[in-house]
Amino acid sequence: MTVQVAERGGFCFGVRRAVDSVLEATERFSPLYTLGPIIHNPAVVDMLEGRGAHVAYSVEEIPENATVVIRSHGVGPEVLEKLQTRGVRVIDATCPFVARIQQKVRQAFEAGMQVVLVGEPQHPEVQGINGWCHGTARIVQSAEDVEALPSMERVCVAAQTTTNRERWETLLALIQARFPGCEVFPSICSATFERQKEAVEIAEKADIMLVIGGRNSSNTQKLFTLCSARCPRTYLIESPEELPGNIPYRDVHVGITTGASTPAWIIKEVITRMCDIEKNEILTPETETETPEVKAEAPVAENPTTPAPAAEAEEQTTDADTVQSIPSTGEGEANFVEDFEKMMMPIRPGQIIKGKVVSVNDNEVCVNIGYKADGFIQRSEFSAGEDVNPRDVIKEGDEIEVEVLKVNDGEGNVLLSKKNVDSRKYWKDLVAAYNAGEHFTAVGKQAVKGGIIASINGIRAFIPASHLDTHYVEDINSYIGKPMEVVIIEMEKGRKRVVASHKNAILENEKRKKAEKWASIEEGTRVMGIVRRLTDFGAFVDIGGVDGLVHVTNLAWGRVQHPRDVVNVGDEIEVLIMKVDRENERISLGYKQLKPKPWDVATSKYIPGTIVTGKVVRLVSFGAFVELEPGLDGLVHISQIADHRIDKVESVLQPGQIVDVKILDVNPEEHRISLSIRDALVPKSENDYSPDDYEDSYDDADDDIYEVGDDIDPLA
Ligand code: F3S
Repeated sequence: MTVQVAERGGFCFGVRRAVDSVLEATERFSPLYTLGPIIHNPAVVDMLEGRGAHVAYSVEEIPENATVVIRSHGVGPEVLEKLQTRGVRVIDATCPFVARIQQKVRQAFEAGMQVVLVGEPQHPEVQGINGWCHGTARIVQSAEDVEALPSMERVCVAAQTTTNRERWETLLALIQARFPGCEVFPSICSATFERQKEAVEIAEKADIMLVIGGRNSSNTQKLFTLCSARCPRTYLIESPEELPGNIPYRDVHVGITTGASTPAWIIKEVITRMCDIEKNEILTPETETETPEVKAEAPVAENPTTPAPAAEAEEQTTDADTVQSIPSTGEGEANFVEDFEKMMMPIRPGQIIKGKVVSVNDNEVCVNIGYKADGFIQRSEFSAGEDVNPRDVIKEGDEIEVEVLKVNDGEGNVLLSKKNVDSRKYWKDLVAAYNAGEHFTAVGKQAVKGGIIASINGIRAFIPASHLDTHYVEDINSYIGKPMEVVIIEMEKGRKRVVASHKNAILENEKRKKAEKWASIEEGTRVMGIVRRLTDFGAFVDIGGVDGLVHVTNLAWGRVQHPRDVVNVGDEIEVLIMKVDRENERISLGYKQLKPKPWDVATSKYIPGTIVTGKVVRLVSFGAFVELEPGLDGLVHISQIADHRIDKVESVLQPGQIVDVKILDVNPEEHRISLSIRDALVPKSENDYSPDDYEDSYDDADDDIYEVGDDIDPLA
C-alpha cells in the first residue's frame, strides 16, 4: 500500500488559529466557552470539551464572568455588545480574512452603500458579516437571487470566504451587469480552492480515496463530492473507527484529503489503522478475494449532501501532478510521525526558518512554518527596502526564509519577519559588492545635518552634502525620494555604518566612459561630434566624452579668417580623426579633409568661356587674384582687367570687390586659373586669346604669391 496525504489538507490557518486560541485559553480561563462548535469536527470538539471548553449555542447560555472564544467565522457587533453587557471576557479568534470582510462591509455601510453578499444566508460567517452592516446586506446565492434584487444606487459586493470560485464569478458578472460601477471586494479565501484542487489531483490517481472531516462541514462535503467524481472508491469518515475494514488495502494507492477542521492527529490514527489492516491482510491473504468491492457512497454512513453535479466537479480538474507518495512499510508512518513531531518542536525568537506561503493579502502573509501554529508576517516586517504590497512580490506556495520575532503574539500567532532575513542577506551582499568596488542604487530618505540619510536595499547609508553631486548643492532636500547611483566610501562592518558618495559614482562613470572612448579612438576614422567651443585657432569638437581640435587650417580648403566662418557652437559635424596623442590626451581632427578639394572639381565646374562671379582678394603688379570659391583663386592679368590699357591694377580694382570674370583656362595640375574681366565685359573673339599669353605672369607669381593662404602684400 502507498499513501498520499494532501499537503493542503487539515486546518486552514484561520481554523488552526481558533483551535490554538481555545487550547491556550483552557489553561488560563474557567469557565470557558466557545460560541458554537469551534470547528466542524466532533472529535476535536470533544477533546476540547474534555479540557474544559464548553460549547454554547447562544449568548444567553454563557454565564456572567465566563470567557468565550469567538470562532473563525466571526460574529456581528451586536453579539459582541451582548457579551460585553453580560460581563463575559471575549477572545476573538475570527479569521483575519473574515475580519477584513467585516471591516469592509462596515465601511461600505457607513459610506451609505448597499452591501450585496454572495454566500449562504444561514452560514454563521455570512450572518456575522451581515451584522456589520446592521443586517441590511442583500444575500444572493443564485442567478435568480440577483435578478430579484431591487434597483439600488451605490452597491458594494463581497463574498463568503468559502464561496465556490466559479459561482462567484458568474454571480459577480450578473451583479455588475445590473449595477454598473459597483464596488467589488474579492474576498474568497484561496485555502479552500487550493485544498479542493489538490484533492482532485490526488483522487484521480488513487485506488481508494479517504476524505476525513466532519459531516456537518460544508467544505468536507464539497471535497467528498469532488473526489467521488474522480475515484469511485471514495469514503467520507470522521474518525479512524469509521475506516472501512472490509476492503483490501494491500497493493493499493490510498489518497487522503482532509477538511478544514481535521486535526493532524486524526490523520495519523487513520494511517496507523490502515497499516494494521494491511498487515492482517498479509497474514491472511485470502481476505482480498473475499472482500467485495465497495462503491463510493456505500461506506458513508450518513451521506451529508447530495453530490455536486458532475459538471461542477469537472471545473476543478487540473493537470498538475504534485503527488508525493508515502510507502506504508513502516517508513510512511515514520515520516508522518516525523512531520507531526516537527509540528510540535519548539521554536524561539531569532530563529531563522523556512516556510511555505499559505495565503497573502495586502497587509500580511500567512506562512506554514511546520509548527503547530502558522506564522504571520505583517506588512511592516515584509520588505527590507521600500514599502511593498506583499501581493505584488509573493504568492501562495512560495518558499521563503523568515525570522521568528515572537512565538506567541498573545493571540496564538507566531510573528515572523522577512525583512530581518532580507536585511542580513543584503548586508552580506553589500559587503561583497563593496569589496568588489561595485556601485549601488540609493534612495534619499531624510535630510540631516551635513547630508542625507539614504537607503541602499533597506540599509541606511549617510551621504555627506559634499558628496551629493559634482557641483555645490543648494538644496539637499531635492535629493529626498530620488534614486541615485552611489559608491560606498566608508564602511564600518561592526556597526553596520555606511557612508556613500553620489559624486564619486558620477566621476568614476565619467572616467570609465572616457577610458572606453580613448580605447575606441582610431586614427583615420570618421566620427560625428558636436562643436563645443571656438577659439581663434580652431574649433573644439566633442566626439563622445572627449574633445578634439579642428585647427583653423583644417576647417576649410580656403583661407579662413575665424572658425565661426565655417562652424558654430552646437553644430553636429562629421570629422576625421587625424592624430591621437594618448599621452597628452590630444586629438587632432580634420573637417575639410572630408570635403572635396576645390582643385579636384575645378575642371568640371569652371568651363573655359563661361562667365562667373568672384571676389578680388589680392592685387599684384601684374594683375589681380580673384577668389571663385574658398581655396580656388584665379589670376586676372593686368591686360585682362579693362578694355583699355591701365598702368596700375589698383586704379581699377580694390580687394574685396566683386567682379564678373570669364574663365580663360583651368590647369588643376599646376593649380592655375586664368581669368578675364575685360572679356566678361566685351566678348572677345577666339583669335584674340591665347592661354599662353599668361603663362609668364603665373611663373612670375609662383615663388611668392600663388599659394592659397600665403600672406601677401598686394602692393609689394
Ligand atoms: Fe479563514 Fe480561509 Fe480558513 S477565510 S477560516 S483561512 S478557509
